[in-house]
Amino acid sequence: MKVAFPVQMRRIDELIIERGIPSVLLMENASRSVLEEVLKYPTVKEIAILCGGGNNGGDGYAIGRLLLNAGKTVSVIECYHPSTPDAIFNASLFVSFGGGIHACEESTVESLLSRADMVIDSIFGTGFHGELQGRVAELVEYINGLKSVKLAVDIPSGVSGFDGSVRGIAFRADKTVTFGAGKVGHYLYPGRDYCGEVVVRSEGFSREILDRQLDSSVIDEELVLELLPERHADSHKGTYGAVLIVGGSEIYTGAPFLSALGALRSGCGLTYTYTPPEAAAVIRSNLPEVIAIVGKGPHIFRDDLDTIVEIAKKADSIVIGPGIGRNEETAETVLELLKVFSKSSMVLDADGLYALSKDLTVLSRTEDILLTPHPGEFRRLCGETDLKSLMDFCENFHCRVILKGSSSVLCNPYGKLSINITGTTGLAKGGSGDLLSGTIGSFAAQTGDLERAGILGMYFMGKAAELSDESDASNTASSIGKEYSRVFSCLVE
Ligand code: ACO
Repeated sequence: MKVAFPVQMRRIDELIIERGIPSVLLMENASRSVLEEVLKYPTVKEIAILCGGGNNGGDGYAIGRLLLNAGKTVSVIECYHPSTPDAIFNASLFVSFGGGIHACEESTVESLLSRADMVIDSIFGTGFHGELQGRVAELVEYINGLKSVKLAVDIPSGVSGFDGSVRGIAFRADKTVTFGAGKVGHYLYPGRDYCGEVVVRSEGFSREILDRQLDSSVIDEELVLELLPERHADSHKGTYGAVLIVGGSEIYTGAPFLSALGALRSGCGLTYTYTPPEAAAVIRSNLPEVIAIVGKGPHIFRDDLDTIVEIAKKADSIVIGPGIGRNEETAETVLELLKVFSKSSMVLDADGLYALSKDLTVLSRTEDILLTPHPGEFRRLCGETDLKSLMDFCENFHCRVILKGSSSVLCNPYGKLSINITGTTGLAKGGSGDLLSGTIGSFAAQTGDLERAGILGMYFMGKAAELSDESDASNTASSIGKEYSRVFSCLVE
């Protein structure tokens, strides 16, 4: 499902208006779809609408008029004076149809809000920036404590449509009705928490314009089915690629096993691992299908380089980092590997990223690399963890990054995002990152396309956690890896 940045949505509105649809008609269409969503709550009779001064406020007045005409009791609370032509027009229409407007400073506003069965937030839409302040912040905080149904128009006020960030207070919606396409901020935390159910209504929007203007997506089943490699009856292990996983150390003996599990369970033809002996022992006793090659010492050292390079000749993709540790010589060896494999399809994870942080210039030589940091690892690489910094980093270093989190985001060098919304708190546990890196390495080996592999990998791991019979608290990466079969079954059914 395509998603938009606010600036893209503004451009889409402009293009539709240029084609001849007046902005006030766009506003009417948006408001009609909100009306339909409100009417899905038959017990809601009395409704309070908070209106801002921009076009989001304009939507609020139009919704108010439509609800009045549908027989509801409606009060508008004016948070800012209407300032755009369409907001002014709709505010006056609302009044001429008998609507009552209350200034937000009035002392009776709280009792009016507490009486309402539903509160609609039409204060700010995608034009919001900064922070809710003063009386408006006070009212939003008050509403958040009420038991009434809360519905946000386009995006909850206080949430950034660009990246889902919230400074201070934001409207906590049960449902958010948005238009044309979801906004990036709906799907990233903390904003995702404030939106409730997100309903995308596209009446009056041109599919052709939306498709042309938007390239970022929230990963859904439709996209995954499009990207999933086919399996043919007439095939053999060579058909599905080979992945090499390099990692493990004295302390982290399980990480390469989890990575290899992800690779095997997601369809790769051949899985090679190169690890120190203790990690190889874990793999050999748990995953006999893996070709577990044993390194020379307790860590990956320079002496291992030649053998790794030799094995890599058989691999279509390479995963470096699961459990590799922070030994200084190991870090130097990882940097050396990145130079040697500069033309290979590579996933760099965990302490492989620690090694990279020592010399980011290596990235300028790699042609096809995907980094998979959690926010702490990304901060070490970039200094920040916000979306803008992620996009700048990918552009500057011409690489792909998956910033892992409750909604993981894959960013490519051209600012295209793929947002994963599958997953459970069962993944908030050591080992998930290892499982993910191997899964991505496997899909990269099968498809030859790291971006496609990253999208599939994020979706698969999250969906497997959702489909698992284990409770979130007691689930483990190894159990989740074994559930990939259910994800495949769900997709092909
Ligand atoms: N504190 C105080 N004021 C603020 C803050 C803040 N923290 N943040 C933003 N504002 C102000 C802005 O400065 C701006 O005012 P200005 O235009 O005078 O500078 C105003 O709030 C913007 O408010 P919004 O209503 O969020 O922004 P906009 O007017 O761009 O409307 C829109 C957003 C188009 C309604 C969007 O949310 C949307 O797509 N909605 C649904 C579809 C729709 O209704 N489309 C038709 C609209 S008509 C048309 O687009 C022309």
